Amino acid sequence: MATTLIKNGKVISTTGVIAQDVLITDEVVTALGAPGYFAGAEQGADKVIDAAGKYVIPGGIDVHTHMEMPFGGTYASDTFETGTTAAAWGGVTTIVDFAVQNTGGDVQEALASWHRKADGNCAIDYGFHQIIGGVDEQSLKSMRYLVDHEGITSFKLFMAYPGVLYSDDGQLLRAMQTAGEIGAMIMMHAENGIAIDVLVQQAVARGDTDPRFHSLTRPSPLEAEATHRAIVLSHVAGNVPLYIVHMSAGDALAHVAAARHEGRNVFAETCPQYLWLTLEETLGRPGFEGAKWVCSTPVRSKDHDPDYIGRMGHGHQADLWKGLRMNELAVVSTDHCPFCMKDQKEIGIGNFAQIPNGIGGVEHRMELIYQGVVAGELSLERWVETCCTSPARMFGMYPKKGVIAPGSDADVVVWDPSSKTTIGMDEPGRKHHMNMDYSAWEGWVIDGKVDTVLSRGKVIVENDAYVGTKGHGQYVKRGLSQYLV
Ligand code: URP
Ligand code: ZN
Ligand code: ZN
Repeated sequence: MATTLIKNGKVISTTGVIAQDVLITDEVVTALGAPGYFAGAEQGADKVIDAAGKYVIPGGIDVHTHMEMPFGGTYASDTFETGTTAAAWGGVTTIVDFAVQNTGGDVQEALASWHRKADGNCAIDYGFHQIIGGVDEQSLKSMRYLVDHEGITSFKLFMAYPGVLYSDDGQLLRAMQTAGEIGAMIMMHAENGIAIDVLVQQAVARGDTDPRFHSLTRPSPLEAEATHRAIVLSHVAGNVPLYIVHMSAGDALAHVAAARHEGRNVFAETCPQYLWLTLEETLGRPGFEGAKWVCSTPVRSKDHDPDYIGRMGHGHQADLWKGLRMNELAVVSTDHCPFCMKDQKEIGIGNFAQIPNGIGGVEHRMELIYQGVVAGELSLERWVETCCTSPARMFGMYPKKGVIAPGSDADVVVWDPSSKTTIGMDEPGRKHHMNMDYSAWEGWVIDGKVDTVLSRGKVIVENDAYVGTKGHGQYVKRGLSQYLV
């Protein structure tokens, strides 16, 4: 029996910041006590972590990653080993990745192949959502099987990428009806892909081929329209739980807020790239450099689009930060889908539509959202809620994950608010561990730092070193969402 004591820190939960010591026995938290309460146990403890002046938070949970995903003619460049190790460096102790069924493929075979990629390779715990890229009788049947037997209770559908992962409205409705019958959550990539493809073809025909046209051909009303349509379909299907992924636009968010105001089971996540990055400063850079930030939904203009339908005057980012404060946005994920510039993003030189879509960020979510706390956008409690606790509840992992409480997995991060982190790889001392040849966050300075990370009681990051092991991470079978109204 191994005992670890974390003493003198301030434990942050969704409800407050409290000076507390945390006692861990083997893989689980066994008790929290007033500072000094475990002084007796300290003598016999195998490890004592002094968190004086530091915060103690539940391990981060990133519910939207794509390790080794085949996409855009190549593969996401992080393996489960490299990606989960980078996640650990960023204070993340659980990821939920997406197993992909392509159109015509078999769902259970797709899932088996994701297990093969991850099994024995992960530094931290992991679960899976299932992408349904072809809604038909067989895949609908498989949805039931995955909920009943595989601990997979959430299914992503696509309103974008016609001919690849796209489902039409009838297919969306059928999958939602099945989800309603089995209690599952539908996750939606909400962009009107049919209209976007027309705009993309027109732009390319005009010779508008630079990376910035990736965003300009995906205007926010097409995210808003798809979001609204998904909400309507989930309503018609019987108030089926709906979770909009990677939300980037204020006008899309307004539809989620309205549905939530009506008491509907409609939820949404956003990602750091939409909260902090703008079209002007990233995609719009000269030449091909903007390709680094090509992802879908796209990074948007600092102002609302000219044809924005809804509230005006404060920009998408202000809308999203407000949405996080108001719980219109329940979760921050990363949509970690890294590609190198060399040989991967470069596929799209001369045609932005060929650039593999995705940004790597699993390592930096806790840092970048903490910077929102420093900037006065969020409270410490809300940082923990959106990055740790709500992801666990939303996707059926609570209280095993997402909270520091007796009986919970001892997934714990000690966070140092008095040290800084400079993200990037261009200069010595900068922080970057993802398998990419660039950082989308090069030079960003964070007023805080991941100090120590424990995964199920085992220290995996300390003293600026990764001390974890490949294969320590276990598969998490998830239950139904614990977040429903
Ligand atoms: O650009 C993105 N988001 N790539 C990953 C696939 C997806 O739609 O989430
Ligand atoms: Zn998506
Ligand atoms: Zn994604």
